[in-house]
Amino acid sequence: MKNINIGIIGGGLMGREIASAFARWCAFTDLTVRPVLTAVADLHAPTLAWFDAIPSCNQKTTDYHELLANPNVDVVYVAVPHHLHEQIYCDVLAAGKDLLAEKPFGIDLASSQRILAAVDASGRFVRCSSEMPFSPGAQRAFAIAQQGEIGRILEVVSGFHHSSDLDHNKPANWKRFNKTCGEGGVLNDLGMHACHLPLRLGWKPQRLFAQLQKGYAQRPDGKGGMIACDTWDNAQLHTWTTIADHTVPLRMEMKRLAPGATNTWFIEILGTDGGVRFSTAEPKTLWIFERGKEQWWKRTELGFGTPFKTITGGIFEPGFPDVIQQMWAAYLMEREGLLDGRFGCATPQEAVDSHKIFAAAMLSQQQGSVVTL
Ligand SMILES: NC(=O)c1ccc[n+]([C@@H]2O[C@H](COP(=O)([O-])OP(=O)(O)OC[C@H]3O[C@@H](n4cnc5c(N)ncnc54)[C@H](O)[C@@H]3O)[C@@H](O)[C@H]2O)c1
Repeated sequence: MKNINIGIIGGGLMGREIASAFARWCAFTDLTVRPVLTAVADLHAPTLAWFDAIPSCNQKTTDYHELLANPNVDVVYVAVPHHLHEQIYCDVLAAGKDLLAEKPFGIDLASSQRILAAVDASGRFVRCSSEMPFSPGAQRAFAIAQQGEIGRILEVVSGFHHSSDLDHNKPANWKRFNKTCGEGGVLNDLGMHACHLPLRLGWKPQRLFAQLQKGYAQRPDGKGGMIACDTWDNAQLHTWTTIADHTVPLRMEMKRLAPGATNTWFIEILGTDGGVRFSTAEPKTLWIFERGKEQWWKRTELGFGTPFKTITGGIFEPGFPDVIQQMWAAYLMEREGLLDGRFGCATPQEAVDSHKIFAAAMLSQQQGSVVTL
């Protein structure tokens, strides 16, 4: 295997998830590249100390510029609050490193467009993080939609739900404030997850009507007081797209206040002759609709049919750490020119396109009307 040296900027929730995905790389059976975590940058010393558990990670710094000056870093993964995306992503590119950037790829549409311009000018290999489509059920739904065997597509629903903020006693973090999460709020936070597959299938919304909802106006600040929270928490985007010359309703849902849901990504594509439904709430279950003399919803247990093969037995069920690993396999193999037709990570252009949807959604909410994109 060829080693690729990786630096992580932002060692919080996602930075550590990625580090642990690298540590389990021996699970892959047919890859020719291996990520080696060599450096991490985070503002907090206790966060950096967690990386002591990774023997190859020999640079730990509170100044990410030091990581960027390290010649022993080829690729940088950045997982920081959204208001820092543009500056840090552009600094990574200026340092001559490749980048896997966390969504939403800039705090708003204008920021994402400036990042895209910097990507194009740099010539570096850049992708945006969106791991859920790498789950076996999502891959099958994508393939079924691409094969066009379900007749005329009648409607599509794509979404991401969780309930992390139902508890009003949960202290506010940076995701609860427009200044750090962005005016888009939940659109920025969860939107890319809902947009990735439709955009990859070429199903761009052309018009939309948005219903955005706020949650609790204030939360504990973690220091004994209360603090105002101003982000949108739930979003339902009722959009129209064109599929095979037909206008098709495409609903995108992103919710931080979805009772009962914990990180649930789902897609449903219904056509006149067939359909498919998958949710990570049932991680190995795929529902396929068939219409013959009678109509059938067929349920199949997919098991561990991931795009990149692993030692894990085919009967086992995949989860979040697995799809994170699959996404990184896709990033590193595509960077080597070895993707071989497999599903690739979200592109910078797809990230900008998702921001166009979020901007239209905010305008629709403000005007109470349908917006043309
Ligand atoms: N792909 C996914 O499923 C997924 C899930 C959660 C979050 N995210 C994205 O990941 C990013 C980070 O989210 P998170 O939940 O990991 O946040 P987090 O708050 O858990 O971690 C962010 C880290 O960035 C560090 N940081 C802040 N400023 C820094 C700086 N100047 N230099 C170095 N480090 C700095 C913080 O100390 C913190 O440890 C966001 O873009 C978010 O949207 C993606």
